[in-house]
Amino acid sequence: MSDLPFTFNLPLPHVVPSRVDNHIERRLSAMRGQFLDEAAYQEMLAQDDRLIYEVYEVKRPEVSGEFLMGVSIVHPGKVGSEFFMTKGHFHQVLATAEVYYCLRGEGYMVMETPEGEACVEALIPGSVLYVPPRWAHRSVCTSRLEDLVTFFAYPAEAGHDYGTIEQQGFRKLVVEGADGIQIVDNPRWKVD
Ligand code: PA5
Ligand code: NI
Repeated sequence: MSDLPFTFNLPLPHVVPSRVDNHIERRLSAMRGQFLDEAAYQEMLAQDDRLIYEVYEVKRPEVSGEFLMGVSIVHPGKVGSEFFMTKGHFHQVLATAEVYYCLRGEGYMVMETPEGEACVEALIPGSVLYVPPRWAHRSVCTSRLEDLVTFFAYPAEAGHDYGTIEQQGFRKLVVEGADGIQIVDNPRWKVD
């Protein structure tokens, strides 16, 4: 891989990077156990294995000193009352941060520490979000029509730990209630 500086673009309206080394598609079937309403999940899956989100990655060597960058696109939709979202993860090297820049759409970043401190930040175009070291993170799209599109950059050695979140989800959920978008406690969540 070249060590020369390089430039790429995020051309509107689709914001797919002009340089892409890897394209990840995560469908409903890859999100088993993540949405609270299991019956709604099964019903939706029986109809169609919907595309929930995509990631376009710009690869670099996964070593200290490098950054990994890319674009995350969460599509609009809900499972039961819960909005479409990414799986979410801690970084394997827990003490690594991440920066997100919202390019399109509306949504939230749901975050928490291993000790159970929780934080939910709104994302609208132009928002820059700093996810400090040790905070797990999940993007949630709350627009009915538009994708939530974010650019991200994080230390290349960080890695992904999905297992912890797979077990109990995040402490906070983003749902559509009678009065609109609500951030509620996850009844399945607990600290071990
Ligand atoms: O590293 C990140 O936080 C992002 O690139 C995410 O990987 C991306 O948003 C997809 O989410 P997840 O990795 O939780 O499936
Ligand atoms: Ni991350």
